[in-house]
Amino acid sequence: MEVVITSGAQESARLAADAVEQLLARKPDAVLGLATGSTPLPTYDELVRRHEAGQVSFARARGFTLDEYIGLPADHPQRYRNVIDRELVGRVDFASDAVTGPDGLAEDLQAAAEAYERAIAAAGGVDLQILGIGTNGHIAFNEPGSSLASRTRVQPLAPQTRTDNARFFEDDVEAVPRLCFTQGLGTIMEARHLVLIATGEGKAAAVQQLVEGPVSARWPATVMQHHPHATVLLDEAAASRLELADYYREAYAAKPEWQGI
Ligand code: GLP
Repeated sequence: MEVVITSGAQESARLAADAVEQLLARKPDAVLGLATGSTPLPTYDELVRRHEAGQVSFARARGFTLDEYIGLPADHPQRYRNVIDRELVGRVDFASDAVTGPDGLAEDLQAAAEAYERAIAAAGGVDLQILGIGTNGHIAFNEPGSSLASRTRVQPLAPQTRTDNARFFEDDVEAVPRLCFTQGLGTIMEARHLVLIATGEGKAAAVQQLVEGPVSARWPATVMQHHPHATVLLDEAAASRLELADYYREAYAAKPEWQGI
């Protein structure tokens, strides 16, 4: 796992956007894993800016979102499918239907979860997965206790997550759905490159576990320690509890620039 402590959210966004741009330059039909939440927004803004400058095209790329609330009406602004359209897909040149997400309105939820796994596999798997992290250490919606080998499935949201996400629902925790679809930890681990971004003091405890804690379902993101190519982009506040922060800084400073992240 490579830990990069950046000067802040903008530098993290530039580095994540560099990885996407370089991937699409060498593989224009790459498959991107797209996270929602507030953390990736500067990265999406940077990608939109580069797209408008003619530096990057998504015309042949495909995308899969990580997770989805179950039961939100199709036109609900917080439905992740709508969020990702608004924040990225509708602002660049993805082909129509190139980006899909789990169907939170499916009648047969289990069948929809299985269909989603098949769709990812049929696309050849995810080349680069952008991730955020929950304050309780979740990635996607894999809450504490999730099997480290889990697949796409229906999952109840942890009380902490519903409280954290109430800010997107006019601070009304009761308006936050109780159930969601999430790609499993085993599904996410099959992506060829994981790029997790964390900003702010609120993520420091989860980041400490992610990078330096024991691998455990208690902190689901720790499964990433087993991934052969995982990059963690942190601002100073998110990195503030890391015991080996100075070492990560030195290691990154010594890295040849051509390697990228
Ligand atoms: C949400 C999403 C995750 C996201 C995380 C952090 O609930 N399901 O995919 O990474 O929680 O969100 P934020 O980036 O807004 O802090």
